[in-house]
Amino acid sequence: MDGTSTPNSAPVLILLGPPGAGKGTQARLLEEKHGLVQLSTGDLLRSAVAAGTEAGKAAKAVMEAGDLVSDEIVIAILRDRLAEADCARGVILDGFPRTTVQAEALDTLLVETGQKINAAISLEVDDASMVTRISGRFTCGGCGEGYHDSFKPTDKPGICDACGGTDMKRRADDNAATVAQRLAAYHAQTAPLIDHYQGKGALSRIPAMGAIDEIAAALDSVVSKTTA
Ligand code: AP5
Repeated sequence: MDGTSTPNSAPVLILLGPPGAGKGTQARLLEEKHGLVQLSTGDLLRSAVAAGTEAGKAAKAVMEAGDLVSDEIVIAILRDRLAEADCARGVILDGFPRTTVQAEALDTLLVETGQKINAAISLEVDDASMVTRISGRFTCGGCGEGYHDSFKPTDKPGICDACGGTDMKRRADDNAATVAQRLAAYHAQTAPLIDHYQGKGALSRIPAMGAIDEIAAALDSVVSKTTA
């Protein structure tokens, strides 16, 4: 790279927020509405664990403890995924960056692709409610659609509204002890990125304790403004 890459207007949006803030839920809605690609490092890591890759083997115990996987592993996984053709239409980063080192690595990657960060959106929630949100979560194993026992149940019990699948999954790290550690990791290592992006003039804060569709409308307005 000579540092003179061609400018590329494909949007780059970052969703920041603690576990349970609704990053995955909202990223999927933005993906549908704006034709962007959701890049969840949590999903990429869970796929690596399921596939038994070297990265997955190294990540498994760390994720089960609720700690952050090493920057080296996460950055490598993200870099490979960003290089895939579909990402050329623009991406929503869900769960990345999570440390200052990851934020700097993202800046370097975007210099290489000629892109810029359109917005870093902080979903602002009350920590105490996150355990309830997370402990009620389940996901369709067929299509990945996310649900909640109380806040977003399926129309018919046990059947995915989106694809009709019946293979519903709950995550191994969605238990109270691990959630507490994930929240602690968020506050220690990820929350400082809010100031980081504020300093770059890229931050939008969205109150995210309301209904899913109200938050989606607020996000939609930020995305439309910053990608116009
Ligand atoms: P990851 O998979 O990213 O998990 P997380 O950040 O802990 O976030 P969650 O997926 O738990 O929550 P979410 O904000 O997406 O909420 P959701 O929309 O599902 O990471 C898992 C692990 O991987 C980490 O602990 C770490 O070990 C590792 N990792 C990942 N990325 C890494 C990185 N960059 N660096 C290092 N390690 C990394 O919503 C939750 C529930 O609430 C759902 O049931 C949903 O239906 C419901 N809900 C959503 N919105 C609302 C609402 N407004 N009202 C009521 N219910 C709602």
